[in-house]
Amino acid sequence: MPGYPVLPEGLAYGGDYNPEQWPEDVWREDVRLMREAGVNLVTVGVFNWGLIEPEEGEYDFARLDRILDLLHSAGVYADLATPTSSPPTWFRRRYPGSRLVDREGHVLGGGSRHSFCPSSPDYAAASERVVTALARRYAGHPAVAMWHVHNEYGWANAHCYCPTSAEAFRAWLRDRYGDVGALNAAWGTTFWGLTYGSFEEVEPPVAAPVGLLTGLQLDFMRFSVDAHIACFRRERDTIRRFCDLPVTTNFMIPNCKPMDYWRWAAEVDVVANDHYLDSGRADPQIELAMAADLTRSVAGGRPWMLMEHSTGAVNWQPRNLAKRPGEMRRNTLAHVARGSDSAMFFQWRASRYGAEKFHSAMVPHAGTDSRMWREVVALGADLRELAGVRGSRVAAEVAVVWDWESYWALEFEWRPSADLRFRERVEAYYEALWREHVTVDFVHPSADLSPYRLVVAPSSYLLGEAPAKNLHRYVEAGGHLLVSYFSGIVDENDTIHAGPHPGALREVLGVAVEEFHPLREHETVTLEPFSATGRIWSERVRLAGARAVHEFADGPDAGHPAVTRHDLGAGTAWYVSTALDAGSGLRGLLGRVLDGAGVSRPRGLPDTLELVWRGDHLFLINHGDAPVTVHGVTGTGVLDGAAYDGSATVPAGGVVVVRTA
Ligand code: GLA
Repeated sequence: MPGYPVLPEGLAYGGDYNPEQWPEDVWREDVRLMREAGVNLVTVGVFNWGLIEPEEGEYDFARLDRILDLLHSAGVYADLATPTSSPPTWFRRRYPGSRLVDREGHVLGGGSRHSFCPSSPDYAAASERVVTALARRYAGHPAVAMWHVHNEYGWANAHCYCPTSAEAFRAWLRDRYGDVGALNAAWGTTFWGLTYGSFEEVEPPVAAPVGLLTGLQLDFMRFSVDAHIACFRRERDTIRRFCDLPVTTNFMIPNCKPMDYWRWAAEVDVVANDHYLDSGRADPQIELAMAADLTRSVAGGRPWMLMEHSTGAVNWQPRNLAKRPGEMRRNTLAHVARGSDSAMFFQWRASRYGAEKFHSAMVPHAGTDSRMWREVVALGADLRELAGVRGSRVAAEVAVVWDWESYWALEFEWRPSADLRFRERVEAYYEALWREHVTVDFVHPSADLSPYRLVVAPSSYLLGEAPAKNLHRYVEAGGHLLVSYFSGIVDENDTIHAGPHPGALREVLGVAVEEFHPLREHETVTLEPFSATGRIWSERVRLAGARAVHEFADGPDAGHPAVTRHDLGAGTAWYVSTALDAGSGLRGLLGRVLDGAGVSRPRGLPDTLELVWRGDHLFLINHGDAPVTVHGVTGTGVLDGAAYDGSATVPAGGVVVVRTA
């Protein structure tokens, strides 16, 4: 496949390397320590534009030359970045029309990165010039293994509302709709008489009285993704004029809502992701696993690169918790288990300056006489032992539907309940599956679903006719489908499907919804015949082919179906019309659905044990505080060299990886 593998052998280990912040004697110490830790790849030059082009058109590559030569002499490869996420101060002064404007019309200031409009022609020209100069100079440099374009597209400038963006948006709409009548039809502008007479009348969704057309909002989200992708393509194609090394950019899955990464994935040679532990959560390793599974899925199941994570605390959460002993190792190896062929950090050496000086690093402020450094060195050794997993795939029998467009649309204003949140439901189902030791892929609803025994759609509010038919065909052909409430409600323009809800899924689910009955905050309802509770949602479901498996025992829909099952063709479609409690409710139901679908999974293990197969490697990651013995394990311990013959015991907080016979 293009762009893979990046390094001649093994997994990539390293991080963002910013030697420009340090005197040169520190660089020599850096490469010595990199060798000690087993670092073989570092990202260089990410925020260097102002240093390599101190004045427009005047380049100074002397420092970068020395850095790359030094890395090469130490046997460390470079993931060479283009510096275009942080334009130099002269650019801003000289091209005021390129400044980023927010929804309220404020022109955002400089003194930070990402402060530019992605549709600016001046930005396009200046970034293309610096990338051309970089690519021309370093295309053949022996240290350079890959190119890292920009940094985290959409991180702070996902949407720009300046006049240039407005004009670009109108051009995009002309392209999409051809004539303004088609736009009016798609957005339903007879509503409030908001019909446009020409494309010139369309404004981006700037701050306005409440009740903005949702079609306008959706298309602006789509346009903005395209604007950033156009920036990426320009740089990628410039680099390709000079060399054929893999080109990527670092995604922020799943924590950059405005970027539709299904669309992005087609653009890069290898999918790369940045993920930071949300240390405020009770079990942050579950969100981490979800991020990794979603990244692998976006990569089409191919190996991907973890481009950034942290050795310890970050600096931008409300409370930046340090990782406890062993936690970094568990985090890193969970990413590897779920398909990453690299373990990269932000950053190599902790910075003394600016906004990120309290962010952890591989070399902390405390220096090498520190737990963190010792764990970094030990992790390097683990990764060397794991070289054999490189390139191998993760198998999943269950898929969870994830569609960024549905995520956006669900969370526009004026929905039936403020508690309808995309990630709330997706994460609830993901967590239940994780605790059942079921590895999942994520899928777009129009993807090929035939490889899966079960497809779960926890939050598919927006669902076009074609993807809905895809789900229908999947069930008819023998698939098992589980759908949660408020799915299949609107089409790709945020227009309600005609007739009773859930319009797009009525037939496959065999139900019709007469009325929504959202619950009050903290209100719960009870289900029978098993004792489960529901939150957030209740609704009046009429059976139209399906049968009721559970009914509401109380609340607005007492005596009416709460969970239904529809046997259709060779398959089965389940529907759940409330937010089942995480315990007996959701896990109880999922258990039965998984059994019915024939999904294999280990039984009797604590739900704090993470268990993932990657190729012939079994990863056992113990997040609990007691040892766990897993039976039926035979093979060689990759990290500990042990011979496992029938069972493996994973110490509290520990990781065992077994290469099975
Ligand atoms: C992002 C950026 C890095 C750094 C880290 C800090 O991932 O790409 O440059 O700012 O966040 O966590």
